[in-house]
Amino acid sequence: RVEEKVDSVLQKMTLEEKIGQMVQYNGSWDLTGPASDKGNKEKEDRVKKGMVGSMLNVLSVEATEQAQRLNMENSRMKIPMMFGYDVIHGYKTIFPVPLAETSSWDLEAMEESARIAALESAVDGVNWTFSPMIDVSRDARWGRIMEGSGEDPFLTSKVGEAKIRGYQGEDLSDPKTIAATAKHFAGYGFVEGGKDYNSGNIGIRELHNFILPPFKAAAKAGAATFMNSFNTIDGIPATASEYLQRDILKGDWNWDGFVVSDWGSIAELIPHGIAKDKTDAARIAVKAGSDMDMEGGAYESGLKSLVENGTINENILDDAVRRILRVKFKMGLFDDPYRYSDAGLASEFSTEDHLNTARDIARKSIVLLKNEQQLLPLKGDENIAIIGPLADDKDTPIGNWRAQGEKNSAVSVIEGFKNSDFSGSMSFEKGVALGKGERSFLMPLEIEKEDRSGISAAVEIAKNADKVILVLGEDAFQTGEGRSQADVSLAGLQKELMDKVFEVNKNIILVLINGRPIEVNWAAENIPAIVEAWQLGSESGNAIADVLLGKYNPSGKLPVSFPRNSGQEPLYYNHLNTGRPSNPQHVTYSHYTDVEDGPLYPFGFGLSYTSFEYAKPGISSASLTEDGTLTLKVSVTNTGSVKGKEVVQLYVKDLVAKIARPVKELKGFELVELEAGESKEISFEISSEMLQFYDGENWIAEPGEFEAMVGTNSAEVQSIKFELK
Ligand code: IFM
Repeated sequence: RVEEKVDSVLQKMTLEEKIGQMVQYNGSWDLTGPASDKGNKEKEDRVKKGMVGSMLNVLSVEATEQAQRLNMENSRMKIPMMFGYDVIHGYKTIFPVPLAETSSWDLEAMEESARIAALESAVDGVNWTFSPMIDVSRDARWGRIMEGSGEDPFLTSKVGEAKIRGYQGEDLSDPKTIAATAKHFAGYGFVEGGKDYNSGNIGIRELHNFILPPFKAAAKAGAATFMNSFNTIDGIPATASEYLQRDILKGDWNWDGFVVSDWGSIAELIPHGIAKDKTDAARIAVKAGSDMDMEGGAYESGLKSLVENGTINENILDDAVRRILRVKFKMGLFDDPYRYSDAGLASEFSTEDHLNTARDIARKSIVLLKNEQQLLPLKGDENIAIIGPLADDKDTPIGNWRAQGEKNSAVSVIEGFKNSDFSGSMSFEKGVALGKGERSFLMPLEIEKEDRSGISAAVEIAKNADKVILVLGEDAFQTGEGRSQADVSLAGLQKELMDKVFEVNKNIILVLINGRPIEVNWAAENIPAIVEAWQLGSESGNAIADVLLGKYNPSGKLPVSFPRNSGQEPLYYNHLNTGRPSNPQHVTYSHYTDVEDGPLYPFGFGLSYTSFEYAKPGISSASLTEDGTLTLKVSVTNTGSVKGKEVVQLYVKDLVAKIARPVKELKGFELVELEAGESKEISFEISSEMLQFYDGENWIAEPGEFEAMVGTNSAEVQSIKFELK
């Protein structure tokens, strides 16, 4: 039925109208990219002529409705527009940044936060989010690592599926759901040196085995749209890649949605040096399978002549437009173009329910990295000094890509304590500032490097405290687009503040608020307790107080490796073994001579206020056939004195294969809650499909020996061998 409807519209469209559907305009002026030189008036005229398929950054029921009316009441074909926006971790109610949220390993919770984000967007007229970002990234230097799910393709796939379910629900035509975008297709998280927009020199096997799996899962989960990416892969800009967009996505995966370019990425084929002008860029991108041009103006100016002079066959445009119309039909926009224009629903914003959910997922996202001398949880009646630039910060936890999350709207750590039943005494000093001046999406961030005037007051309150809660990390605008760093250690004067406080009081609980893994090597050696609190969104301070006061037993696990030194990046657990993995007797093995090998905190790592013990795992059979499964079982016991949650992780290694394979790869996980003293048996099914890899031509599972590993993080596992027959 949908296909018939699509065809009936398509056959009535003129060439100009088809091109119009492939054009996306920015609605406001300085949100997420440099504004084009086109004035509002000209944009309006084109909307009226039905020459715009979609707009981004048009916000509010009133504004989207007005734009839709311009189109519907004036254009010949009356094809409704879609309204897109970067709803990355919430719309008004802000949830933890995606990297943080992934630390919960709680797929239901992540689906729920996406459902709420979709609802709040939809009731404000926005019906399409440019999320989830499912770029696997192994590089903490890359500023956008905060927007994804970290370094593992399996975990990223699962989170991507959950997010798509949350945004799109069961039925895209439900006006409380919105269309999702799987982005950035592909390789954007693998840019050289972690430098945003840089080139990616990615081998074909690496592409298929590590980068594409989350996208394949997203296509299968029915993501309505994909966004391509700014980077090149082996010399070909992703936006120009026929291999990625036509052969794989629309060919092998048989996906029927549409691909939107990234902001201006079609016109950027000119500076990439593969197109001589916008028309040439339009030719290359449309052939490659980029269906909609985001604020780049290349399709609008170039496609008509390309079709008319026979360079591009109109069928190519028909395919793109068919895909765009299909999504619009599925969203029910043809039945009611104003279905997202019910202003009465605005009461759905930041409701108590949404904030409670945000608090719950924020607590689940916190990772306890170190807890010596049982410094945590706090007893609740101590004399504490809260110190640090981020302790009273109500803005940083909102993070970058904050959609309609208001400035300074997060609960700060100080407020979190004030809201709690903490009955001890509490003093506060900032010590030093972190970021300086006005912050916004496009502006460079200035870090405070000189003003030490607050340090002595901080030291004074530290001297008299039982415990110090030191809140350090990154400014909200230290991570996100265009925010790559060569050095991922604590910025500005923060380390100096930590040193000075440490001189007078060693009972420090370091609370980190940040969007990427940061280097805290010295702290890990010297500070007794470290809590990775990330940028947790609206309810940040309440969630942090819940964990520090033991109201919630931390259960988060890192979705990325934490380095000992920035120079180790890219750093990831699922690396290849190399021919010289270890030989500490000589220098001629793969290592750095000035930094201890491996991460400071490995992928999958996180502590609890209780302890878990793993029994020896068992396996149902020592061999697996191609179409069979075997079951690995392991009993996990809560050996501590409080209830807690554990993420039981399954890894697999292919011992001998025709290509070098990773030392281990995550293949399953289960989040289990155990009462003190309780044991549970966790089972994982292993099938030959899980053992497949891309050998350069095909996906294969080779007969031979494998190692299954189960444990509490990627570095602490017990293994058991089996054979694929
Ligand atoms: O969705 C984003 C993308 O991730 C980066 N460039 C701008 C787009 C729209 O804001």
